[in-house]
Amino acid sequence: MLDEEQYLETRTEQLLRRTVLTRRELLKLGAAVPVAAGIARFAPAATALAALRDTPPPPILKPLPAEWFTKLGTNAEMRWDAVKGLGYLTPPERFFVRNHTATAAVDASTWQLSVFGSGLNGPGASFTLDQLRSLPVHEVTAFVECAGNGRSFFASQQGTPAPGSQWTLGAIGVARWRGVRLAEVLQRSGIAANAVDVMPQGLDAHVVTNGVDYGNVRRPLPAAKALDDALLAYEMNGVPLLPDHGFPLRLIVPGWVGVANVKWIGQIEVSNQPLFSLWNTQQYRLLGADYPADSPPLTAQVVKSAWELGSGAALPNGERVTLTGRAWSGTSGIARVDVSIDHGATWTQAKLHSRNGAGNWVQFSYSFPPQPAGSYELWARATDVSGRTQPATVPFNSLGYLFGAIVRHPVVIH
Ligand code: MTE
Repeated sequence: MLDEEQYLETRTEQLLRRTVLTRRELLKLGAAVPVAAGIARFAPAATALAALRDTPPPPILKPLPAEWFTKLGTNAEMRWDAVKGLGYLTPPERFFVRNHTATAAVDASTWQLSVFGSGLNGPGASFTLDQLRSLPVHEVTAFVECAGNGRSFFASQQGTPAPGSQWTLGAIGVARWRGVRLAEVLQRSGIAANAVDVMPQGLDAHVVTNGVDYGNVRRPLPAAKALDDALLAYEMNGVPLLPDHGFPLRLIVPGWVGVANVKWIGQIEVSNQPLFSLWNTQQYRLLGADYPADSPPLTAQVVKSAWELGSGAALPNGERVTLTGRAWSGTSGIARVDVSIDHGATWTQAKLHSRNGAGNWVQFSYSFPPQPAGSYELWARATDVSGRTQPATVPFNSLGYLFGAIVRHPVVIH
């Protein structure tokens, strides 16, 4: 990590890069230095730097305009009503953020990826960013979606609230990721035939809950999966990763739950024994009365769909209107999306428009016929090519993961 001077430089740069400090930041700085807020800019540089040092960085560094995002603690949810008209890919500045603690400030000029462990033949290897960039380049288009996406509907639709960030459906985005295959790096590091698990670890702060220090965010994946389609990504939609999305390097495991896509990777352990962390034991499994105690760590995402509309959006009176949305599955492409506006009594098939495949979304549209004034629910029910369909309800799990039931989206006609 950075020493103090580099830290201050990085923080100053981060704040300045966001153009001028926001009013709140100026006030905060003013309060932190022994001068009136209005003359904070005249404070001696050392005092101002000391104030900067004492101001904890915000958990997310990129701007989070309220028309694009809903803030949820250390996280930011993408607003679906802001997505209409955007292309297939989610621009990095509009991509949701899920931070267990806060965005890490990593200095790429001193950063190295180290690969080590009992599942290697030999001592392992380390790689600078330039070395990784010189390896064969691979690109993949894939979503990153939080396992808890849709969690709030356990409360609002099923009356069984689950703790954790109360996401609606905006903890997802699709990007074109560019980097080097994890398999390439593991092979160059001497992965052995008896390797069992591969565990990337983030450089963000330790996760401490109720006084217990669980260490850095890290989650193992089976060696077979690591050698299959996982990507160590250094670019997102053609530009270097933003700090909030894992700069300088993150993992992308297409179609899997978001936590598999470890950000700010500093090291990868390769083991000839199973590996464990908070994130594959107590979290990111389906727990509760409807599930066995040994239910496995979550892998692929379930089928879901969302409208590019706000909850309770007003639709024009007496007009046919084209409504749009996106549907996705971690396992295969989407075969169809059916829409009901009469609580499931009748269904109409929506049109699918875009690129479509496992771990991606497909854009769809539906022609909403003129209706009398009143309140309606839009139901979209996606079915993937493997035959998985969104059910009416899903069994409760105590951490509120994988809410794949049909979401009843309220709209109103005045
Ligand atoms: N990696 C690290 N190091 N720290 C984190 O907090 N959050 C995970 C994953 N990788 C996380 C992480 C979770 S739960 C999700 S959903 C995705 O990153 C979110 O990626 P994004 O913030 O780029 O959208």
